Amino acid sequence: VVSLERQQRDWEDLARLDPRWAIVAGDEHRFGRWDTDAFLETGRVEVKKAMRRAERLGYPAHRRRALEFGCGTGRVTRALAAHFEECVGVDISPRMVEEAREMGADVPGLSFEVNAEEGLGAFASGRFDLVYSRLVLQHVPGRDAILAYVQEMVRVLAPDGLLLFQLPSHIPWRHRLQPQRRLYAGLRRLGVPSKVLYRRLRLQPIRMSAVPVPDVCRALEESGARVLEVRTGRSVVESSTYYVTKEGASA
Ligand SMILES: C[S@@+](CC[C@H](N)C(=O)[O-])C[C@H]1O[C@@H](n2cnc3c(N)ncnc32)[C@H](O)[C@@H]1O
Repeated sequence: VVSLERQQRDWEDLARLDPRWAIVAGDEHRFGRWDTDAFLETGRVEVKKAMRRAERLGYPAHRRRALEFGCGTGRVTRALAAHFEECVGVDISPRMVEEAREMGADVPGLSFEVNAEEGLGAFASGRFDLVYSRLVLQHVPGRDAILAYVQEMVRVLAPDGLLLFQLPSHIPWRHRLQPQRRLYAGLRRLGVPSKVLYRRLRLQPIRMSAVPVPDVCRALEESGARVLEVRTGRSVVESSTYYVTKEGASA
């Protein structure tokens, strides 16, 4: 079992070393080579697509408050602010949150908080019309921890809201070993500075987890949610995006 402290340390390392690459990877962007406008544009494009699909599904019923779980530097949260009155981004890494606050200082209705716990205890049940999370749960170690977050996202979702999250559903065997990450952890433990590990040895601590679609759907239904749609795509890993709602008070 990997502790929350360890997960937080890994993401603090990444936030210090190369935050934008850690968020949207690609060799051409490594070592701080993400242009700010191009980076933020990826968030706008992603949110536009999500909102188009949301409209087609007919959820959320209201656009008051949105939450992004695992917001990084706020690439997506700030784009959501064009569609919701109030947007909150939470992340396990204080450094990511700090940068998100700086970059989003000019955007009204936007705020960011550190959330370094197994749930979303800082938020009341039913608070958010949209709960959004992509490229996050895949890095949480272990099925139980992932499903606990999923159930928390359902809890804070408003009736007739929309929960949209992405999570790999299958990782082929040859990609499960993740030697780069193991070596990073081992050498980091021996006291090798993270900068040397990342820059010279090209190692990094990012882990990849997956949960099969039926297990996720069961957890969602157990927590009182209704699955509207699951879209699955395959590249190196098989990844699924879940569109979920919760019945309104009158149902
Ligand atoms: C690949 S980045 C994606 C950021 C953002 N979702 C985006 O698409 O721009 C993953 C983010 O998840 C955060 N994260 C990882 N584990 C987390 C956890 N248990 N709770 C909250 N945030 C977490 C990391 O700190 C990092 O900022």
